[in-house]
Amino acid sequence: MKFIVLVCLLSFCSFLDATPVNMTSEPNVFMKRISQTSWEQSNDIQFDSDVTLDTLEMIRKADYPAEAYVTITEDGYILTLHRIPGGNGSLPVLLQHGLLCTSADWLFLGKDKALAYLLADQGYDVWLSNYRGNTYSRKHISLSPSELKFWNFSFHEMGIYDLPAMITFITNMTSQPLHTYIGHSMGTTGFYIMASERPEIAQMVQKMISLSPVAFTNHMESKIKYLIPLWTELKMIIRYFFHDEFLPQSDILKFLSKYLCEQNLEENICVDIIFLICGYDREQFNYTLLPVILNHDPAGTSSKTLMHYVQIYQSGKFRQYDYGREKNQLIYNSAEPPDYNLSNITVPIALLYGRGDLIVNIVDLKRLYRALPNVVDMYEVPWPKFNHVDFMWAKDAPKLVYERVLKLVKKKKLNNVIWRE
Ligand SMILES: *[C@@H]1O[C@H](CO)[C@@H](O)[C@H](O)[C@H]1NC(C)=O
Ligand SMILES: *[C@@H]1O[C@H](CO)[C@@H](O)[C@H](O)[C@H]1NC(C)=O
Ligand SMILES: *[C@@H]1O[C@H](CO)[C@@H](O)[C@H](O)[C@H]1NC(C)=O
Ligand SMILES: *[C@@H]1O[C@H](CO)[C@@H](O)[C@H](O)[C@H]1NC(C)=O
Ligand SMILES: *[C@@H]1O[C@H](CO)[C@@H](O)[C@H](O)[C@H]1NC(C)=O
Ligand SMILES: *[C@@H]1O[C@H](CO)[C@@H](O)[C@H](O)[C@H]1NC(C)=O
Ligand SMILES: *[C@@H]1O[C@H](CO)[C@@H](O)[C@H](O)[C@H]1NC(C)=O
Repeated sequence: MKFIVLVCLLSFCSFLDATPVNMTSEPNVFMKRISQTSWEQSNDIQFDSDVTLDTLEMIRKADYPAEAYVTITEDGYILTLHRIPGGNGSLPVLLQHGLLCTSADWLFLGKDKALAYLLADQGYDVWLSNYRGNTYSRKHISLSPSELKFWNFSFHEMGIYDLPAMITFITNMTSQPLHTYIGHSMGTTGFYIMASERPEIAQMVQKMISLSPVAFTNHMESKIKYLIPLWTELKMIIRYFFHDEFLPQSDILKFLSKYLCEQNLEENICVDIIFLICGYDREQFNYTLLPVILNHDPAGTSSKTLMHYVQIYQSGKFRQYDYGREKNQLIYNSAEPPDYNLSNITVPIALLYGRGDLIVNIVDLKRLYRALPNVVDMYEVPWPKFNHVDFMWAKDAPKLVYERVLKLVKKKKLNNVIWRE
């Protein structure tokens, strides 16, 4: 536990270093210079050019067509949507990333393996969305990311504004409903919120596939829970130095993670931190991918998003943000924040989970299964150690998970399942 605290403090220190420099200017010349020097100097480690590619470049390098669009949410955030376009009349599928990730996470495994490419190979029109606050969606029509107000959102707003904007954009562009929504982690949280709060948008989605579904979290076993008692202090640090922005991509962080994380690939403290948080699965982790992963993640979010997850963990309720009794009364007209009503969700939903996932506990999952009226698949990945990030990065994800996902995407008729556990 002390260990995690230390590492977190360390990464915060790296931000402290960064604060005197103008973080909002892009590209930041000073930081660029540092990181370039560091790339050049480390001849002892192999870095292939893939490491520094962004989402569009990765797709093009894999020999697929790539497009990017922006869409504006009702509250003014400018979001980037990436796309691997399908042929005429192809069915649109949307992939939504989780906490601190981006559209690029769906591509790390590469051609013939990554889910985005497998779907494109099957002829689908593949859309990769980016939630507000990440590397590709740090713009707003009137606010700047250096303002506190820009970061005044949690996954609630991602659910009620970001997903509706992106889904409306796709259905409008393709003149058909969204064939399948596939979410990982916070990509599922946002969907459940959207589908219960904005049923008129959910109507445009024909089915939903949840990878590592996160709604109730009070049985979470991730070691990250030991940081919760420190959260008040951390939140103050994030507010004071980073205007409520949590772990954005920065060249200083990349520089640091390079030296901490890429020296010794098989005995790696950075990977061990991922294991402590997400579940321990050494066999499925491809250490060769680490430089690529670290070039994209963590991709930034608001500290309010983390706070909202902390609240859900502590209250045991999947409900709106808790502002404290007085302010709740003003905002919600009740002292307690209202629950998300999962029984309002009519979209057919498949739940895919791993037994090694420290974030998604089976007890919480069971509760989610009972709350959702329309569950069409319960699939436990047949690898006992399968953890939270394995859904995106595991060596055998194509065989263990994506085969099942493709089957579900293709299936015309989905029936409700009874889960015997
Ligand atoms: C930071 O950079 C941005 C974009 O170049 C510029 O608009 C802004 O004024 C700069 N802020 C400071 C404090 O220098
Ligand atoms: C797709 O449709 C457009 C317009 O309907 C048409 O011009 C184009 O030739 C079609 N492309 C293919 C590959 O069928
Ligand atoms: C953030 O949003 C909430 C609810 O919309 C509002 O009550 C609060 O004052 C806002 N805080 C800031 C710093 O803008
Ligand atoms: C839908 O698409 C048309 C053009 O294809 C565009 O003019 C219109 O603004 C779009 N509407 C929305 C809500 O995106
Ligand atoms: C959910 O269902 C309840 C009861 O039918 C209804 O009062 C509520 O408005 C619904 N919520 C939404 C967002 O439609
Ligand atoms: C939730 O929605 C269901 C179905 O629409 C409804 O029967 C129930 O009363 C709602 N519950 C609450 C607390 O609004
Ligand atoms: C690990 O990742 C590298 C780089 O993408 C790839 O070449 C290799 O095949 C992967 N190994 C396994 C076992 O998937």
